[in-house]
Amino acid sequence: MKKRRIAVLCHQDLIPPDSKEGFEPKEIAVWKTEFGVVDTLRSLGHDVHVRGVSDDLAPIRRVLEGFEPDVFFNLLMEFRDQGSYQAHVVSYLELLDARYTGCNSRGILLTRDKALCKKILRYHRIPTPRFAVFPIGGRSRRTKLGYPMIVKSADEEASLGISQASVVSDEEHLRERVEFVHRNVGTDAIAEEYVEGRELTLSVLGNDRLTTLPIWELFFRNLPEGSLPIATARAKWDLDYQKRAGIDNGPAEDIDPTTRSRIATLGKRAYRALGLSGYARLDLRLAPDGRVFVIEVNSTPDVAEDEDLSRSSRAAGIDYPALIQRIVGLGAAYRLPGLR
Ligand SMILES: Nc1ncnc2c1ncn2[C@@H]1O[C@H](COP(=O)(O)OP(=O)(O)O)[C@@H](O)[C@H]1O
Ligand SMILES: [Mg+2]
Repeated sequence: MKKRRIAVLCHQDLIPPDSKEGFEPKEIAVWKTEFGVVDTLRSLGHDVHVRGVSDDLAPIRRVLEGFEPDVFFNLLMEFRDQGSYQAHVVSYLELLDARYTGCNSRGILLTRDKALCKKILRYHRIPTPRFAVFPIGGRSRRTKLGYPMIVKSADEEASLGISQASVVSDEEHLRERVEFVHRNVGTDAIAEEYVEGRELTLSVLGNDRLTTLPIWELFFRNLPEGSLPIATARAKWDLDYQKRAGIDNGPAEDIDPTTRSRIATLGKRAYRALGLSGYARLDLRLAPDGRVFVIEVNSTPDVAEDEDLSRSSRAAGIDYPALIQRIVGLGAAYRLPGLR
């Protein structure tokens, strides 16, 4: 295996310590991704340099000129506290002609904007729920969508602003929830037709040749009466609630081979339609009638060892170090299309 010079870019506040010793699980959870990546790269024998970035691009340029990395391992999810600048930092790496892991700037831009992403998917006839956008400060208007609908932030992640109340069954509640997103999340809102069914996720690796990993499922085994099986912020982040409601994830069983291959093909088509690179994870719903819908395309999914991407990778026989190594290789090999 080739030993490389790798500069890990992460948020200034998430630079991991050298060891987990003496930290509480809650503290570790904050920088587990950064820790896992740095620790694994070092144990693979790479020459690793960690650089924190928060509101200044100069450190990136300095590390490129000083340390001369073969590749940046990019873990930056925001710049100047703005998630919507995430793609622009990658643009900067591209302007510097640097190699980097993960998704290219254009792919991040297209997927972070949920409505734009869905417009592209629909053009390519990739099934995704019908939707309407409600811009902040826009006039309220009628939609022709069918109820129930789910109301989300148009460009936030991590289920921010998603709770049981996000699913609405009439116009009054739709208005209320749109206003809630405007006021509390501070972004445009998107309302989608709600798809009943199993909550699946599919991880994809590659630049040109794509690999899909085993389909993963989020289980809701013991939801309180009347609750819908959706990945609310609470379902994603509240460990106590997860225990009580029996929420956990694992390989999706009992899916027939035809549906499995349809899901894999759908994932690859979406990946290509959006010009993604490196790795990505798609949130999907499998309806009781067998139809599959793309709910969301995550172009920068969490690469922590205990998250869906790494776990489904392990189920495919690619352990965590091998996954991280593969991600580095894909980053080193990726070239932006269209450059002369
Ligand atoms: N159209 C939909 N039908 C059914 N469930 C949905 C739909 N859209 C979102 N959800 C539920 O809400 C969760 C979060 O939505 P998602 O679009 O993935 O946003 P986030 O970026 O916060 O992950 C999904 O994982 C799913 O459980
Ligand atoms: Mg999601």
